[in-house]
Amino acid sequence: MTFPIIRMRRLRENAHVRDLVRETKVDLDDLIMPLFVVEGLKRKEEIPSMPGQFRFSVPELVDECKRIYDSGIKAVILFGIPEHKDKKGSGAWIENGIIQKAMAQIKKTIPDLLLIGDVCLCEYTSHGHCGWIENGRLINDASLDLLAKTALSQVEAGADMVAPSDMMDGRVGSIRQILDKNSYSHIPIMSYAAKYSSAFYGPFRDAAESSPQFGDRSSYQMDPANADEAVREVELDLAEGADIVMVKPALPYLDIVRTVKETFRVPVAAYNVSGEYSLIKAAAANGWVDEKRIVLETLTSIKRAGADMILTYFASDYAAWKK
Ligand code: PBG
Repeated sequence: MTFPIIRMRRLRENAHVRDLVRETKVDLDDLIMPLFVVEGLKRKEEIPSMPGQFRFSVPELVDECKRIYDSGIKAVILFGIPEHKDKKGSGAWIENGIIQKAMAQIKKTIPDLLLIGDVCLCEYTSHGHCGWIENGRLINDASLDLLAKTALSQVEAGADMVAPSDMMDGRVGSIRQILDKNSYSHIPIMSYAAKYSSAFYGPFRDAAESSPQFGDRSSYQMDPANADEAVREVELDLAEGADIVMVKPALPYLDIVRTVKETFRVPVAAYNVSGEYSLIKAAAANGWVDEKRIVLETLTSIKRAGADMILTYFASDYAAWKK
């Protein structure tokens, strides 16, 4: 059967019919809001390359988390920026580190907010790389202990889930092992499994002061040209015990999101990263695009591609617009 018996437009005429047949919806339950906390900061500062996003002090971060939770967003992912950086990135795991202090305060004040810790060293190392450096090279296996310690310290401080974003081989297994050894076998791991070496992280590195001081991240993050390799990365992380696998960035890698979902049928997260946020903000500020419509279309496309959840700086605005 074809036209004139079939008319695709019949189901598009009426708004309520369109609502009935809509295949993809973005719920607040699907969204995770990334937030930055900075040690030694007196008052929050707006991030110049990410209008509407802030670097928070601990008390202001707690207030912001409360506001976000009340708006209907149930999960946040936290990034810490320490006052002092060193070669090992020790600020990432010390007991009274900025992220540990912030997590403890948030857990105490808003116990129901799902607290996810980003596990990485780049915000904490003087060289800005995501692991241990020797003679200008990133040493994979020496980094694993440091990352595992970081994950454990976050969970001890109150994290409900940890999300390693460093891209070292074997880190999911190391983190699973240390958590299990310390009676945290119930804590899930969301691994940044297919994380690409991307120019879309530019604004984040301003916000987190985490740019590499030499070289770049292409010896550990993935080549944007590779798709089969993403399947191998995800397969290995799942074998090491990852509960949720992430594809990052989101928009330029929707094909990867779809492939990962169809291949593994496990919970998939996509990170709508800083550069994706800033591009929309800049165009909207110029009046070139309709921000609300662009954001809804963006988030919808990421879910339609197969993501179960989205990490996005738009989470809080989206919640406000939905009200
Ligand atoms: C840390 C990390 C990065 C992001 C999340 N975790 C930066 C990077 O790998 O350089 C990027 C997030 C964003 O751009 O929004 N390794």
